[in-house]
Amino acid sequence: MALQKMTAQKIIEKKKKGEKIVTITSYDYSFAKIVDECGIDLILVGDSLSMVILGYKNTLAVTMEEMIHHTKAVSRGVSNAMIVADMPFLSYKINIHEAVRNAGRFIQEGGAEAVKVEGGTKICPTIEAMIDADIQVMGHIGLTPQAIYEFGGFLVQGKTIEAAKKLILDAKSLEESGAFSIVLESIPWQIAKLITKSIDIPTIGIGAGSYCDGQILVINDMLGLFTDFKPKFLKYFGDVGKSVRDALFNYKIEVEKGLYPDREHSYEFPQETLEQINDWFENMDIEEESNKRKV
Ligand code: KIV
Repeated sequence: MALQKMTAQKIIEKKKKGEKIVTITSYDYSFAKIVDECGIDLILVGDSLSMVILGYKNTLAVTMEEMIHHTKAVSRGVSNAMIVADMPFLSYKINIHEAVRNAGRFIQEGGAEAVKVEGGTKICPTIEAMIDADIQVMGHIGLTPQAIYEFGGFLVQGKTIEAAKKLILDAKSLEESGAFSIVLESIPWQIAKLITKSIDIPTIGIGAGSYCDGQILVINDMLGLFTDFKPKFLKYFGDVGKSVRDALFNYKIEVEKGLYPDREHSYEFPQETLEQINDWFENMDIEEESNKRKV
């Protein structure tokens, strides 16, 4: 099947047509290539990179340079999916000028087609400035992991009437500021449903129930590769961790027993000249040979 390049406009079109938007994170060339071949609509180079690839305990540690490095790798593997780069902690909150400059680096150096920023109404002037600079922006509200210290942990958001109202108004503001879609993370499905009904741009849920226009998961989570913790919404769609362990265990055994590499996995010297090299090898004087090479 010949796939077409996905764009922000096509993502919005999918909502209008009632088609679900399938998105996932990726952080490197090999996975991004597989994801792209599978016809996923949008790849987020998420700052979850900080945890699932770099091993930090939260997303606050990852830097602009690290995010750009991985965005470049993903871009090299993708032909069809839309690539969105996640702006890391503080890279867009010091001031608007710096935010636009950093967003631009993801497009210019990283090869991304849009950036994602966390936050509601407060972040809208920054989004507007990015859009003025021709940079497309995805919003992110609910559990915004860059604010975990403010929330007191990775906690479900929007559980009170006030908090739910704020989320709905935040989504409206993000739409008005020009964001092309919004990630809704870890909020009750009923609130996600209301938000999805109240805006024309797509909602992409993670822990936000089935009424969102699309879904996103962290690839290392859904493949069972990152198992440090398992939020309620997470479903394992594979056990790649087990496959990797099995493969490594078999490799270890075969190397230890001398079973790998066998002839099938070895290069062969041409049979016709094998005798000559064997003779030379048997009779050579190493010292003489190396002196010859020095001359
Ligand atoms: O960083 C990330 O992977 C994300 C998704 C969970 C939406 O922000």
